[in-house]
Amino acid sequence: MKQGFIGFGNLAKAVYQGLKDDRNFEFAYFARSKKDVDLHFFEQLESLVYYAEIIWLAVKPQDLSGILEQLRNCDLSGKTIVSPVAGKSIAYIENYLGNDTTIVRIMPNLAMAYNASVTAFHTNHPESLMADSIFNLLGKLGKAVKLEEEGFDLFTSVFGSGPAFILAFIKIFKDKIQEFDLPGSVLDELLLELTRGTTLYFMQNQKNCSIEELIKNITSKGGTTQAGLEYFKSQNISKHFEGVLDAARKRSEELSKNGN
Ligand SMILES: NC(=O)c1ccc[n+]([C@@H]2O[C@H](COP(=O)([O-])OP(=O)(O)OC[C@H]3O[C@@H](n4cnc5c(N)ncnc54)[C@H](OP(=O)(O)O)[C@@H]3O)[C@@H](O)[C@H]2O)c1
Repeated sequence: MKQGFIGFGNLAKAVYQGLKDDRNFEFAYFARSKKDVDLHFFEQLESLVYYAEIIWLAVKPQDLSGILEQLRNCDLSGKTIVSPVAGKSIAYIENYLGNDTTIVRIMPNLAMAYNASVTAFHTNHPESLMADSIFNLLGKLGKAVKLEEEGFDLFTSVFGSGPAFILAFIKIFKDKIQEFDLPGSVLDELLLELTRGTTLYFMQNQKNCSIEELIKNITSKGGTTQAGLEYFKSQNISKHFEGVLDAARKRSEELSKNGN
């Protein structure tokens, strides 16, 4: 299946990295400038569109309208459009391309490069076999879930921005253990093992235990974990952290409203 990227930045690179060893896929791209990558580069958007069966809109939201203006003059019959562009609805894209073309809106994260993204999927043509193929392709890049577009703002705050929030949490741990006077790279390795171990513990037990039970298993009565968790509760830290997700969701909603 021929994949054509319009734009070859972080997002397109992550998709390419995650799929490049799969022999079912071929790749090419069009961008403002040629990149240092062993992929076919088209200097004209029209040539990329002619080549590709699946066209990825891998540009920033503010660059999308210019690209759609160009695309509306191309022959898109038999082509499927995939848009990861934050805050731009399928209706927005249909305004330029009409509603005959199959458009798939997704919200992935950069863990696609390691086949570990969590990706939301919505299409204007659920009956399309190509849309189905794209859903399967997203399954190779991690976990994919079909979602109504109304859910994309919350999904973006949890799974799109989520890696940054989890890292910000890990950074609090790192700042705290600076007093060990170990090199930063060693601290990173220790924290990496902590998060890997926690993920494995979650993974191994997730089918049989709730998150509350998993926390309880680490908590002995009157012990250190209990002391920390009581502080967590008394200071309403869950509520504060929820505020982080709400702020991200609100911003996503604002971005969706501007120019949808
Ligand atoms: N990064 C993420 O974690 C992430 C996650 C989910 C969704 N997304 C979405 O994915 C999209 C791309 O994000 P990104 O992080 O990959 O952005 P990026 O790294 O800035 O890459 C954007 C690419 O678009 C190209 N471009 C811009 N205007 C163009 C034009 N007129 N013609 C041709 N190419 C053009 C740029 O080309 P040049 O390099 O030649 O200038 C660049 O290669 C965004 O809409 C974002 O909302 C990103």
